[in-house]
Amino acid sequence: MSSPVRRLREDLVARGLVEELPAAFLAGVTRFGQPPRPELDALTADVADLAGRLASGDVGDADLPLLGRVLFFARRSDLLADHGLPTPAYDVLGGFRENLARPLGPVLPGRPTAGSRRWPLLGRTVGFPIGVPACVLNGSEAWVRHNVANGWNVLTYKTVRSRAHPPNEQPNWVFAARETASLAPGADADVVADPWDWVEPGSPAVSSVNSFGVPSPEPEEWMADLARAVAAVGDEQLLLVSVMGEGDDLAEDFARTALLAEEAGASVVELNLSCPNTLDRSATGVKPPLCLDADATVAVVEHVRRALDDRTGLVAKLSWLDEQRLAALVPRLAPLVDGIAGINTVQSRVRRTDGTPTFPGRELAGLSGIAVREPALDFTRRLVALRAAGGVPFDVLAMGGVTDPESFAALFAAGADAVQSAAGAFADPFLAAACVARLGTTLPRSVEDP
Ligand SMILES: Cc1cc2nc3c(=O)[nH]c(=O)nc-3n(C[C@H](O)[C@H](O)[C@H](O)COP(=O)(O)O)c2cc1C
Repeated sequence: MSSPVRRLREDLVARGLVEELPAAFLAGVTRFGQPPRPELDALTADVADLAGRLASGDVGDADLPLLGRVLFFARRSDLLADHGLPTPAYDVLGGFRENLARPLGPVLPGRPTAGSRRWPLLGRTVGFPIGVPACVLNGSEAWVRHNVANGWNVLTYKTVRSRAHPPNEQPNWVFAARETASLAPGADADVVADPWDWVEPGSPAVSSVNSFGVPSPEPEEWMADLARAVAAVGDEQLLLVSVMGEGDDLAEDFARTALLAEEAGASVVELNLSCPNTLDRSATGVKPPLCLDADATVAVVEHVRRALDDRTGLVAKLSWLDEQRLAALVPRLAPLVDGIAGINTVQSRVRRTDGTPTFPGRELAGLSGIAVREPALDFTRRLVALRAAGGVPFDVLAMGGVTDPESFAALFAAGADAVQSAAGAFADPFLAAACVARLGTTLPRSVEDP
């Protein structure tokens, strides 16, 4: 029987795509800038060699890594997905709008489940408690359906606003291929990442940097889409909706947006108090996250809690905070919320190998994936300890650096009620399935557990 790579090769030949592949790949690689000459020459030679062997039929499974990179940058990852082969879930060469309508990557033939096991979360129960946090991988009904089919149960609809907001100029999302280990909690990161960098799908050592600027469709559009997304999730899933306010009356705008989400059918609203990518006229081009200001954060959360229906759940999403800041904030938030989520990406200085900003006009961007694994664990452990010490219950939605079953299990063991993954979900379409397969029968704290 022929391998999936061989079948993909037949498909490429039948579609007459082999000849145009090198040019399409190089157009993608150079879309946002020119790689250094030796790197570009090497990529050019590699793709020419691959195209030659695709034409002659001399390809096998060992070619999958290069073939995956070539099809991704040639913007034909859909063909990998058609053959059940992994590919990053988002087309970084395409715009935000285009991607909203079109999740990339394979859909599993059967939805992975942990049988009838359920875990408590935010006043109800869910299937295996893994999910995708607020990010562009959850920005529309199409994405929500795609994620549910692949086994993700705790889904946070991407941060929306009370008025339309355009994305930052592309590129918006780049692999941080040199960040293959975790930073220490609280450490600053100076990241070098080029828009043509690549990390193989499924690599647990994946990191990425992003600078989208929290784009949002106008409320009329996202509310209609959200209502459809709410209707699309089943009994095993929970769909939260992330919202953000802006402007001079920040708390009021947060509340306005939360009410719009509630009106569209959201049963849990998550407040994005931690976004590191909001544009500003400062020297670095971006603002610090709101949660660094405890008084402003509490004012927003109080205002939203008063505005929402009592039955609507409320979650506060924080970024990594040092010991003093987190210990000061959590006791003030606990009586107001049903859950606390974190961490967000770590705001980092991101440059290309030639020293220019990876994201033009923005010195800082959000780093996540394995690079933030230790900060996420440290934050989750302290958050869980503060919950125990404070005596006011709330659920913990943990995220940061989950790229394989072990990193999922570590955050769950630290006391998280649910665990989400953005960079891992981007890089590995089969990550939820792998976690369910490994831990579905053994993960503790399900509702039937004594
Ligand atoms: C491309 C991208 C877009 C994101 N957009 C949002 C957002 O709109 N709202 C938000 O609260 N967090 C956003 N995040 C942060 C993630 O929800 C998550 O907190 C962070 O990426 C850490 O998890 P990870 O290491 O699994 O990526 C985004 C992350 C990525 C990678």
